[in-house]
Amino acid sequence: MSSIWLFGYGSLIWRPDFEFLQRRVGSINGWSRRFWQGSHDHRGVPAAPGRVVTLVPDAQGVCGGLAFEVAADTADQILDRLDYREKNGYERHQLDCRLDNGEVVNCLVYVAGESNEAFLGDSQLQQIAEQIRTASGPSGSNMEYLYKLAHALREFDIHDDHVFELEKQVALHTPQD
Ligand code: SIN
Repeated sequence: MSSIWLFGYGSLIWRPDFEFLQRRVGSINGWSRRFWQGSHDHRGVPAAPGRVVTLVPDAQGVCGGLAFEVAADTADQILDRLDYREKNGYERHQLDCRLDNGEVVNCLVYVAGESNEAFLGDSQLQQIAEQIRTASGPSGSNMEYLYKLAHALREFDIHDDHVFELEKQVALHTPQD
């Protein structure tokens, strides 16, 4: 085995925190990015969990993100660290990703499924926005997570209505100095 591919669609886009051989914009069909996973260890606390992204099955959905090629000799160590980082409900999946050069690569993706304890699921967008606006945890504010994700998506020219609408709603209700 010469290398493996990892697909990031959330914090792994703006803070990969591991070495890679190359990074490419890519997309996964049949899944959508949603702020449906609860976070009580990073962007919230048990009494007031925040919300972070997961992928949810969606026949019409296409999720844009970044695919990272990782050298085989570093992969085990990187995956051990990522397993720890994504421990709050995320599990490894293998999904096909179409890269921006047309190539399709099979990627390891961390997905928090609906049966994990921290899963919150859908809610009204206003309610999700309010939860993100007010939650905070050991890794920082939930709002920072949303803003960094939205900023990184724009930087890589990836569109996501769900993320951009939440960003708008949160900003609308946050007093400016
Ligand atoms: C990911 O970025 O691919 C997983 C979700 C997250 O860590 O925000």
